[in-house]
Amino acid sequence: GRDPKVSGGLVLVPCSSLFYIMFDQIWFAKNKNPLVSFPSILIWNSWNCYHVFLYFLKQNKPWWKLKTIVQWPFSATQRRRLSWVQLAGHKGNFKAADEGSILKKFSENEVRCFEKLAGDALLPFVPAYHGVVEKDGESFLHMTDLLANFDLPNVMDCKMGVRTYLEEELVRARERPKPREDLYKKMMEVDSEGPTPQEHSLQGVTKPRYMQWRETMSSTHTLGFRIEGIKKFDGTCRTDFKKTRSKQDVIQVFSDFVGENRSIIKSYVSRLKEIREALSLSEFFKRHEVIGSSLLFIHDHTDMAQVWLIDFGKTTPLPEGQTLKHDVLWQEGNREDGYLWGLQNLIHTLESVSGEVEKLEQ
Ligand SMILES: Nc1ncnc2c1ncn2[C@@H]1O[C@H](COP(=O)(O)OP(=O)(O)O)[C@@H](O)[C@H]1O
Ligand SMILES: [Mg+2]
Repeated sequence: GRDPKVSGGLVLVPCSSLFYIMFDQIWFAKNKNPLVSFPSILIWNSWNCYHVFLYFLKQNKPWWKLKTIVQWPFSATQRRRLSWVQLAGHKGNFKAADEGSILKKFSENEVRCFEKLAGDALLPFVPAYHGVVEKDGESFLHMTDLLANFDLPNVMDCKMGVRTYLEEELVRARERPKPREDLYKKMMEVDSEGPTPQEHSLQGVTKPRYMQWRETMSSTHTLGFRIEGIKKFDGTCRTDFKKTRSKQDVIQVFSDFVGENRSIIKSYVSRLKEIREALSLSEFFKRHEVIGSSLLFIHDHTDMAQVWLIDFGKTTPLPEGQTLKHDVLWQEGNREDGYLWGLQNLIHTLESVSGEVEKLEQ
């Protein structure tokens, strides 16, 4: 009989094409000033059919493994603009800027960090900073859009460190340790077994208790980093990793993110090792408590893969003369953040994924 992969493909090609034509028509009807013209839709559909067909020829995979081969009907620039994503952090903190750059809501602390990073060993691994700008009466940090050179990128935000709050935040939270209903509700949403019997009866949780509990839910405590969000090239987005804690679960998420592509894993591992090297030379890193900062992983179908350090909103300088090791246990008062320990665990995670892919291929 006929190979089921091929026959599946032969059904899927016309079906997907029909679906795209319908989608186009809806798009066309809805948008009075469409980004696409009718001839370009026709070209786009033929282009899609061709790509779906090529997919079956090139990849010896069954058709049900085909997720989406959507070639968007936009120019590369329009596509980039539409696929920009804010994976984590406060909604509304970002604005689009000129081609290839973005605006992040002003924070004095972050500006100071970017200014100090200008002469530091970490400079090649942070987005280029272009100063503070005013827009619509608000101040913003102008920086390079790290997604700009990618085509339909896959993006992952990993928040680094064994805790995601500053020591001073914990101290401040303790000043008024009133049980709060909103925090109780937030805790219940993640884990209905989170609150103690006393907290259940009060229907309230104090802020320091909530802050410390939250870190034990994810891999922050156990691995020194946690996954904040992932956006895949097909537009699917996931931010439900609040309870992704075990090594095995984290490996699974990473494996899915890299699509079991060894070349991408290799690039990521070598980039992380370069970052580790730069961190060991960085004066900035030595002298700061690095909290709430992320590593942003980006790759696309061309196998380009990069990792960048982002988010210095909570990165705080130490008193003059004091430095941190970043890979020793945090005990309240020593301000250690566990960043290097987390980075080492990230490298191990990717190496485990690589090992598993190798096994699959044998
Ligand atoms: N320079 C950048 N280029 C591309 N995407 C970025 C850049 N900076 C931030 N992002 C996106 O925005 C998200 C939130 O950024 P972040 O700096 O962590 O803001 P917040 O301080 O609100 O947490 C990141 O997870 C990432 O998806
Ligand atoms: Mg952030």
